[in-house]
Amino acid sequence: MKSLRECIAEASEKKVAIGHFNISNLEALWGIFRAAQGLNVPVIIGVSEGERDFVGVKQAAALVKSIREEYQYPIFLNADHTYSFERVKEAIDAGFDSVIFDGAKLSFKENVIIAKQCVDYARSSGREVLIEGELGFIGTSSKILDEVPEGVMLDESSLTNPEKAKEFVLATGVDMLAPAVGNFHGMLRGGIDPKLNIERIKEISSAVGIPLVLHGGSGNSEDDFKQAIANGVNIVHINTEIRVAYRDAVKKSLQDDPEEVAPYKFLKPGVKAVQDVVTAKLRFFNNL
Ligand code: G3H
Ligand code: ZN
Repeated sequence: MKSLRECIAEASEKKVAIGHFNISNLEALWGIFRAAQGLNVPVIIGVSEGERDFVGVKQAAALVKSIREEYQYPIFLNADHTYSFERVKEAIDAGFDSVIFDGAKLSFKENVIIAKQCVDYARSSGREVLIEGELGFIGTSSKILDEVPEGVMLDESSLTNPEKAKEFVLATGVDMLAPAVGNFHGMLRGGIDPKLNIERIKEISSAVGIPLVLHGGSGNSEDDFKQAIANGVNIVHINTEIRVAYRDAVKKSLQDDPEEVAPYKFLKPGVKAVQDVVTAKLRFFNNL
């Protein structure tokens, strides 16, 4: 079976992107897997620190591994936005395929030091674990927003600087980079986020020469994705749109049948709602 590194290299060659979708429970995992399986494309499951505290670090690893083995399927697990070396180590030790060290709020120097420590630990783990670095602040929460999150600046001078990005990648040896290019976590109420800065994506991509990861994909337009993928993005993260679809479907299910007490019945529409959102995104990311 192909490794995550091989799937990313293939995506880069084909100028498509692998979809990365976050989960908080088993229902979302099934919805995402069924969507990917239906289109026969690789997929990455993400769990942030909060999500993996809820699911369980080892349990998340065991769940994804069980699907990968049973279906012989390229489904991978990423420790999303991880803020300390200790938690990066915990995820690597638990068997995750990739980890994001998120030092975006640290000074450049501190970010480099810890990201490099994570890369060194991954390389010494005896497995292939990819490390993603992050440069430029893009907010923290996957939720519905009334305004662009505090601390996120969309003006050109606040976006990730291509030269700094190159310096960061050379100093740390990270495998992938998450830049700030007009993207942010969460989605504006109404579902339409400001446009991405495609020119900056292009400049960063040619400066760093490694795959770029677009975070905060909820609320971005198909045209944004198309251009971002054509200019160096090989992984796209989606979370808020899945959370909203799941919440709405379960809410409706409970309202429609308030007497139902079997979770496997009243949660079922939640699985389908996640599957539908993910199918639509994967079609687009994979040019299908
Ligand atoms: O790491 C998670 C993603 O970047 C999710 O962002 O909630 O805006 O889709 P989103
Ligand atoms: Zn993210």
